[in-house]
Amino acid sequence: MGDHVKRPENAAISALRWEEPPDGPMLVVLDQTRLPLEEVELVCTDVQALVAAIGSLAVRGAPLLGLAGAYGVALAAARGYDVEEAAELLARARPTAVNLAYGVQRALTAYRRAEPEEAALAALAEARTLHAQDASASEAMAAHGVRLLSELVPGGGYRVLTHCNTGALVSGGQGTAFGVVSSLHRAGELRRLWVDETRPLLQGSRLTAYEAARAGMPYTLLADNAAGSLFTAGEVDAVLVGADRIAADGATANKVGTYPLAVVARYHHVPFIVVAPTTTVDLATPDGASIEVEQRASSEVTDLAPSPLGTQAYNPAFDVTPPELITAIVTENGVVSPVTAQALAAVCR
Ligand code: MRU
Repeated sequence: MGDHVKRPENAAISALRWEEPPDGPMLVVLDQTRLPLEEVELVCTDVQALVAAIGSLAVRGAPLLGLAGAYGVALAAARGYDVEEAAELLARARPTAVNLAYGVQRALTAYRRAEPEEAALAALAEARTLHAQDASASEAMAAHGVRLLSELVPGGGYRVLTHCNTGALVSGGQGTAFGVVSSLHRAGELRRLWVDETRPLLQGSRLTAYEAARAGMPYTLLADNAAGSLFTAGEVDAVLVGADRIAADGATANKVGTYPLAVVARYHHVPFIVVAPTTTVDLATPDGASIEVEQRASSEVTDLAPSPLGTQAYNPAFDVTPPELITAIVTENGVVSPVTAQALAAVCR
């Protein structure tokens, strides 16, 4: 793992940045495992430190994993490490979010195509380009998402339920689903953000609530298993979530607990909307069953709540929502609704 340093107070959220001090380039990432109690950054001067940061979820969330992968290749190149080996290590650090392998591949391709003396700079330039593209994708998704909501749920003043964390902590910009929520809030159209705590690693209570509180949003936290009763009470106008990998047929892998929300939303006729950049769409994966779902340590569950010594836990990091339960997929290139393989392929032009 890299070294920890204290972050300046009240600084804008910056999940990751490239720095070039005299002793060599480095990638500085906000350690998301320590939020919201501590705002500390991790300094990664080698790929092993970055891979450890990805594995521990200090750096997490699909778009940010893509940026970390690309900058990781640039770091290996700038520091004179074996870039091919570094790229492999990075791409395998987590299996489900396709953005990670995508970001690695983008920087690696730029590195391979450049003249040797320019290859490191080419990899860094590509990482920066991906970073800027992610920021503008997030703006475009927010605009499409707000428009879609106004069509699906007339009247404004939305009560939105979200799961996991999809804001500036996972993006070069305002994020995916949370980017839409932020736009609603700025327009005075967010009546309430319902934040699932998101067991077992609590990305909702630790990270989304942190971002919502910083932005002054009207938000309420709930235990994941309280969501059903919110629908029964008619308190949810729409569900907005992100994605880690969207298969060619529209099946969507996202944080475990997303699929049950989609089932309940359908039962209650509430729109269930996935917001994700096209970098999260993997047309090479035909369907949901073909998506590799990361299985994480049993201790992440057993450490959270008392259980008899030796208890083993089932701990998939993600689940897969079939396309027929998804009202719409919002990308930077437009909205896919109804969700069909043809319509999805068309926005991935
Ligand atoms: O395990 P994590 O915290 O990396 O999982 C993140 C999610 O599931 C997010 O919902 C997803 O990456 C979309 S982020 C825009």
